[in-house]
Amino acid sequence: MKLFDVYPLFDVNIVKGQGCKVWDDKGQEYLDLYGGHAVISIGHSHPHYIEKVTAQLQQIGFYSNSVVNKLQAELAERLGKASGYDDYQLFLINSGAEANENALKLASWKTGNVRVLSCEGAFHGRTSLAVEVTHNRKIVAPINDNHHVRFLPLNDLEPWIRELSRGGIAAVILECIQGVGGVQMATPEFAQKLAYACKRYGVPLIADEIQCGYGRSGKFFAHQWLGIRPDIITMAKGIANGFPMGAVLISPDFKPEYGQLGTTFGGNHLGCAAALATLDVMEGEGLVENARQVGEYLMEGIRNIGSSHIKDVRGRGLMIGIELDMPHKMVRKPLIRHEHCFTGAAGQNILRLLPPLCLTKAEADDFIERLIRVQPEED
Ligand SMILES: Cc1ncc(COP(=O)(O)O)c(C=O)c1O
Repeated sequence: MKLFDVYPLFDVNIVKGQGCKVWDDKGQEYLDLYGGHAVISIGHSHPHYIEKVTAQLQQIGFYSNSVVNKLQAELAERLGKASGYDDYQLFLINSGAEANENALKLASWKTGNVRVLSCEGAFHGRTSLAVEVTHNRKIVAPINDNHHVRFLPLNDLEPWIRELSRGGIAAVILECIQGVGGVQMATPEFAQKLAYACKRYGVPLIADEIQCGYGRSGKFFAHQWLGIRPDIITMAKGIANGFPMGAVLISPDFKPEYGQLGTTFGGNHLGCAAALATLDVMEGEGLVENARQVGEYLMEGIRNIGSSHIKDVRGRGLMIGIELDMPHKMVRKPLIRHEHCFTGAAGQNILRLLPPLCLTKAEADDFIERLIRVQPEED
């Protein structure tokens, strides 16, 4: 059998990781400014994580959501404290798309409505509702194209207010820092006025924190830079440092009913152990603060390169976009091939940095040297 060939691959076989470094099968070391697509939060193969996940596996890896799982309750309590959302409720699933799928369902039940307002440039995942609220026609299958969604411009409040005032809206969904959209940031003024309008019209505001959340922006959630408190917050990626897990934080205004939501694998013992170990390290090593400090240092360093090929450097914490005057491929590929450094990308000409949150200033300097040295190459 062959793999269903949907990924254009770099010809590198990564077999080992440690902190912010990974190695291929030939023993070549790479600096990881990509974090396996923003997933590695505490660093690759952290010893505490390995110890906790191994110990859990030796006890039990999985049982069903029909019995008590105290690890879920422990995770809810720890996550509530770490994020400042003690009074919210936690629902666990396996991926980001599933988190948004469940968030949108909850909002639709609450309001009785079916229309959603989403942002131009948004990416919210690839399952049915999540892909429908994603602003990319190419990945929406006809069966998902159900005309529920209106895409409106980021930071341009007026059309949002107009749509909200017409009524019939189930939810507003927003990435406070767009990932796939090219590290575009909501302004505090836009976010606050939008949140206010949502409250006024009784429409749940969903913050998709799947990429920009979980410490990456230098606060626990990116929306906490903007002074808003969404009704529903979705998470995945960094939550369990690579173990597949998604989560929905749900305001106390939503009352659960038995059977309303459910999942086979979500919140399993092994996943919870991985998420708890991730939180241990994030707190013990101050990684949210590290993301803020090293992120500022790195952005400043990139700006100081003063290259005419760099049009803009933007972001928060360790979610950084470098807008180039050429296709990102011309830099991203030679960065891997010759400078042995992974980065992410967005749009046509943006390098997207999403390193583990334990990146050091020395590693940030090392990246800047590689970026200065790299010679752009035609495809
Ligand atoms: C902002 C955002 N939302 C949702 C998703 C979907 O997450 P998953 O791929 O885990 O389904 C992603 C994935 O990149 C994302 O960046």
